[in-house]
Amino acid sequence: MKQAVIPRYGSPDVFQIREAPDPTPGAGEVRIRVRAAGVNFADVLSRLGLYPDAPKPPLVVGYEVAGHIDAIGANVTGFAEGDRVVSLTRFGGYSDVVIVPAGQAFHFPTDMSEAEAAAVPVTYLTAALALYRMAALAPGETVLIHNAGGGVGIAATQLARLRRAKVIGTASARKHDALRSFGVEHLIDYTNANVPEEVRQLTRGRGVDVVLDPIGGASFDASYKMLAPLGRMVIFGLSAAATGERRNWWTAFRAWRSSSRIDPLSLINRNRGVFGLNIGHLWEERAQLTPVMEMLLGKLRAGRLRPIVAKTFPLERVAHAHRFIQSRQNIGKVVLTT
Ligand SMILES: NC(=O)c1ccc[n+]([C@@H]2O[C@H](COP(=O)([O-])OP(=O)(O)OC[C@H]3O[C@@H](n4cnc5c(N)ncnc54)[C@H](OP(=O)(O)O)[C@@H]3O)[C@@H](O)[C@H]2O)c1
Repeated sequence: MKQAVIPRYGSPDVFQIREAPDPTPGAGEVRIRVRAAGVNFADVLSRLGLYPDAPKPPLVVGYEVAGHIDAIGANVTGFAEGDRVVSLTRFGGYSDVVIVPAGQAFHFPTDMSEAEAAAVPVTYLTAALALYRMAALAPGETVLIHNAGGGVGIAATQLARLRRAKVIGTASARKHDALRSFGVEHLIDYTNANVPEEVRQLTRGRGVDVVLDPIGGASFDASYKMLAPLGRMVIFGLSAAATGERRNWWTAFRAWRSSSRIDPLSLINRNRGVFGLNIGHLWEERAQLTPVMEMLLGKLRAGRLRPIVAKTFPLERVAHAHRFIQSRQNIGKVVLTT
């Protein structure tokens, strides 16, 4: 098998393509011949050495793949060789072969490409858990989606629209036309605008019912203050920690330090809720994740959700894929192909 390895922390140039013997699936596992692997912002943070969950280098990152099953371990039912499946992977996804527990693999709609399927698990699960489970978004409510042009942002917009909620999105200006066509009603160029002031005007001073904030740093405080009474905020990232191609401890530390410390009394007196979400820490919660994944696949099959792939890169050009994201060019998901 072929893998894109991070041998040491650093710029995108550190990636090396290495070959190794194909692994054999054990009991309860299937082997997937990978055609497409999703790239997530967490992979960028791992490459920089800023992601505490990631194993130490040499490391293969990657949380999700799509392809077909080419070997099946003992005691596996419901799958046959040749089945097209999509799966979460706990690291190791930047590879043309992966082994996963069979319970983690799902058949995906026949009219979807592998690249589209690989764009689904992390983004849509994160967005669905944040909006439907934690924030319990209701029809007619207003949700502020930060980083609306990223993979999670677009998935969240689609899910919010399915709930008939109104979406305000923040993104850099050149993404606005595309995001409007995806259903974001009001767009704010957070690189120039005073976001809280614009949100105040758009909501006539009331604030928003739900905020999704993966930026962190000073953004958490600002988001909290934009909540309407009974508003809910879901925090799920620290993009503010990654400001360049190389790790900058000082920026990362500042982003972490300035992430708000929420005062419990303020939660009570302002009638607000704050949730934290990390799907990487829900690995063992298959009984909770599987129904959400099945709900999402049902909506994809019915054409009610549509993954947006910004660009695909061959596995060998993984450094270009990371640069593409870090230079903020992606509108939607970046996917590696093998
Ligand atoms: N906790 C979880 O379970 C979980 C799961 C998935 C994702 N996340 C988090 O959600 C966030 C979005 O992830 P994603 O995979 O959807 O993102 P993505 O598709 O990689 O999108 C990246 C976009 O983020 C924006 N951005 C904001 N700060 C940035 C920075 N410092 N450097 C580069 N781009 C920056 C840029 O858009 P603009 O041009 O608009 O600035 C960029 O195009 C990340 O913080 C990620 O870690 C968390």
